[in-house]
Amino acid sequence: MRVTMFGTGYVGLVTGTCLAEVGNDIYCVDVDAQKIAGLERGEMPIFEPGLTELVAANHAGGRLHFTTDAAQGIAHGQIVFIAVGTPPDEDGSADLRHVLTVARTIGQHIDRYTVIVNKSTVPVGTADRVREAIAAELSARGAKVEFDVVSNPEFLKEGDAVKDCMRPDRIVVGSDSPRAVELLKALYAPFNRNHERIVLMDVRSSELTKYAANAMLATKISFMNEMANIAERVGADIELVRHGIGSDPRIGYSFIYPGAGYGGSCFPKDVQALERIARSHDYEARLLDAVEAVNLKQKEKLFELLTRHFAGALRGKTVALWGLAFKPNTDDMREAPSRRLLEQLWSAGAKAQAFDPEALAEARRIYGERVDLTLCENAYAALEGADVLVVMTEWKAFWSPDFARIKSTLRTPVIFDGRNIYEPSTVEAAGIAYYGIGRGRSVQRSNRALR
Ligand SMILES: NC(=O)c1ccc[n+]([C@@H]2O[C@H](COP(=O)([O-])OP(=O)(O)OC[C@H]3O[C@@H](n4cnc5c(N)ncnc54)[C@H](O)[C@@H]3O)[C@@H](O)[C@H]2O)c1
Repeated sequence: MRVTMFGTGYVGLVTGTCLAEVGNDIYCVDVDAQKIAGLERGEMPIFEPGLTELVAANHAGGRLHFTTDAAQGIAHGQIVFIAVGTPPDEDGSADLRHVLTVARTIGQHIDRYTVIVNKSTVPVGTADRVREAIAAELSARGAKVEFDVVSNPEFLKEGDAVKDCMRPDRIVVGSDSPRAVELLKALYAPFNRNHERIVLMDVRSSELTKYAANAMLATKISFMNEMANIAERVGADIELVRHGIGSDPRIGYSFIYPGAGYGGSCFPKDVQALERIARSHDYEARLLDAVEAVNLKQKEKLFELLTRHFAGALRGKTVALWGLAFKPNTDDMREAPSRRLLEQLWSAGAKAQAFDPEALAEARRIYGERVDLTLCENAYAALEGADVLVVMTEWKAFWSPDFARIKSTLRTPVIFDGRNIYEPSTVEAAGIAYYGIGRGRSVQRSNRALR
């Protein structure tokens, strides 16, 4: 099938590439000329495991094209996807500027029946606005062209995006047009062979499904962080509590890790946007407010522990950071907890020495050259001359470090484990003080004695 993808970010580039991989002919359109030129040369704008090889193979195979020419893209596609960014507006609601710009451009150029598929995460009712924007452009040029607007939210996870796209656990399609649904069923058939994954519904339910999914996941994280904060105060170990509740199949083990708060381009903005959607329909979403408030506070947790450890005297201290990306296997630092910690360290007069396996270039792009941030080429270089170590992102490479080397390199051997990846007794046995999230130290000692 001939498909056009507007937006070559995490969603558009991965989806376009996976659709090409199963044999479709794809045009990826982006306004960022540098990104398109880089892709033409085989340079990836993002780090995503497995993506480079797949893009190269499909580009070389003539199934994956990159262009900044929107008209060319629209002339190509029977199906045109909108996968552009929907960043938070000033008041936290989703900014639909890019989505509506693409809609108008489509209206200016379509000349035959086209299915427009909205993949961006957008407030309920956006499909109607996209339809109106296209219709207005068609009527301005006196053209009569049939089209359908479908909602098809994306559920891929950064770091696993290619895998998620090739083997989706569900494909939500919101449409009331049998003609559009048939085309999408045909497009997604190769991803649907094992069992039926398409969940068909009306457009508004589909738009809300995406927000509901992200809000649910964010709620699980904030819930666990709240439990961790209670555990710390009552002298319990949240990691034992986690195992205790995860074993209940109604709760499950996934997504109940306490930590330094959630970040990324989706959860923070989507929870806020859903809360604003509810408010604009005269409903106060108290749970969503709380999920966001708990998360904002949690992003300050490591700074709180550092301040406590140094009795407030952070000026002149150097903090080694392992991990900058908002989660492992990505270079994405949007809303990353590391950014909040860096801001807090800098305003307290401390310096940071950071290492991340993939996000160093992104950190350089965000912060440029500054005297209070040194970006290091490997994890141990970040420890040289540092007072303490903070683990921000649970990259696999950090899970079994050389504790003896950490101890001998740090000025004062202390680890602040923002993701609870270490066993406190192992760290302490190596002569290093340990702080985790929601893990009372005296409690750990008594638990150790029991084992
Ligand atoms: N990143 C994720 O993990 C993820 C997962 C699910 C859903 N989403 C949603 O998908 C959407 C895209 O997210 P992303 O992370 O891929 O964004 P991104 O910022 O990585 O990419 C967006 C791209 O759109 C391009 N763009 C902007 N205006 C354009 C226009 N008029 N024409 C063509 N291209 C244009 C930008 O240049 C950019 O390359 C968002 O709504 C997001 O909430 C993201």
